[in-house]
Amino acid sequence: MAEWINPASVPQRTLANGSVIPCVGMGTFGSDRFAPEHISAAVDGAIRCGYRLFDCASVYGNEAEIGRVFAAAFREGAVRREELFVTGKVWNDQHGRGEVLLACAKTLRDLQLDYIDAYFVHWPFRNYHAPHCAGDSRNPDSTPFRPAAFLETWRQMERLYDMGLVKNLGMSNMTIPKLEAVLPHCRIKPALLELELHPAFQQPELFAYAAAHGIQPVGFCPVGSPNRPDRDKTDTDVSDTELPEVLAVAKAHGIHPALVCLKWSVQRGAIPIPFSVTEKHYAENLRCVTEDPLTEEEMALLASADKNCRLVKGQVFLWPGATDWRALWDLDGGITK
Ligand SMILES: NC(=O)c1ccc[n+]([C@@H]2O[C@H](COP(=O)([O-])OP(=O)(O)OC[C@H]3O[C@@H](n4cnc5c(N)ncnc54)[C@H](OP(=O)(O)O)[C@@H]3O)[C@@H](O)[C@H]2O)c1
Repeated sequence: MAEWINPASVPQRTLANGSVIPCVGMGTFGSDRFAPEHISAAVDGAIRCGYRLFDCASVYGNEAEIGRVFAAAFREGAVRREELFVTGKVWNDQHGRGEVLLACAKTLRDLQLDYIDAYFVHWPFRNYHAPHCAGDSRNPDSTPFRPAAFLETWRQMERLYDMGLVKNLGMSNMTIPKLEAVLPHCRIKPALLELELHPAFQQPELFAYAAAHGIQPVGFCPVGSPNRPDRDKTDTDVSDTELPEVLAVAKAHGIHPALVCLKWSVQRGAIPIPFSVTEKHYAENLRCVTEDPLTEEEMALLASADKNCRLVKGQVFLWPGATDWRALWDLDGGITK
C-alpha cells in the first residue's frame, strides 16, 4: 500500500477561469520504455497515494488502460471525478477540420470520462511522425509553423470548450513569437502552457511571458527526463540531478536531487508533472511539495544553474529544407520559415 499524502496538504493554483489545479501532478509518457499496463498501475498507485493531477495524451498510447484505472477508482470510492484534474492532448495528425473533435471524443471514451479538465494542442505543427520513429526520421509533408493552420485547430478547441467537454484549453511546445502570432486571435485564451522546464533549462523569457498573460506554466521533464527516448539524447545534454547547485541543495536538505528540481519548480510558480513508475519515487515527489521549502538563497542559487539545455529538441517535426532542430524554437525572435 502506497504512502498516503493528504491532497488537501498539496498547494493548489487557480487558473484564469477559476478552475483549481494541484501544484504537482504525474506524467504518463513512458518514453517508449514502459507498457501501458505498467504506467496505468502507477496511476492507480498514485491515486491511492493522493495524486489528483494526471497529464495524459493520446500519443502516449495508454489512455484506455488509464481510463480503466479511473473507472475502478471512482467505482470503489477511492476518489471522486470532481477531485481529479485530468489533461489530454490532440496529436499532430488530428489538427485538420473536424478531427480535433474526433480526437477528443476518442480520448474521452478511452479515459472513460464525461469531460477533460484541460485539453492541449500537443505540438503547434501538423507535422506527423510515427510513434517510436528514429531521431532522423522526417515527414516530407511537414511545414513551418503557420498561424492560420494553428488557429483552425484552435477554433475546434474552442468548440470543445463551448460544449463543456473540456474545462480549460492549453498550448504546448510554443515560443513567444508563435504565441504573439496567435493569442490576439484566440476567442478563448489558453489557461495553461506546457513547456520543458528543469534547472538546466529554465526558459526564463517564455516563463515570464506566460505569467504576464495569465497563463499557468506546466513543466515537463521536471527532473531532467533521465529515461527519455534515445532520439532525444545528445552528447552535450546536461543531467539536472548532477548539477553542483542541485547537489548542494540536496545535501543541505538530505533529499534526492530529483526532489530539489521539483521543489524549485513549484516554488518558482510552475506545475511540474514528473513521471515515475516507482512507488517510492512518486510518493516522495508528491510529499516533497508539502514540506521543507527551499530558502530564497537556494532558489537564487538554482536560478543561476540554467544551462539553456533543451532535452526534447523535436527534430522529427522538422520540414524539408530546415537543417537544424533550432528552427523549431524561433531563436532569432521571429517565426522561423
Ligand atoms: N507536452 C509535451 O510535449 C511533453 C513532452 C515530454 C513530456 N511530457 C510530460 O511530462 C512528463 C514528465 O516528463 P518525463 O517523463 O520526460 O521526465 P521526468 O519526469 O523529468 O523524468 C522521469 C524519470 O525520472 C525518474 N524519477 C522520477 N522521480 C524520481 C525520484 N524522486 N527519484 C529518482 N528518480 C526519479 C523516473 O524513474 P522511475 O520511474 O524509476 O521513478 C523517470 O525515469 C511526461 O511523462 C509527460 O506526461 C510532455
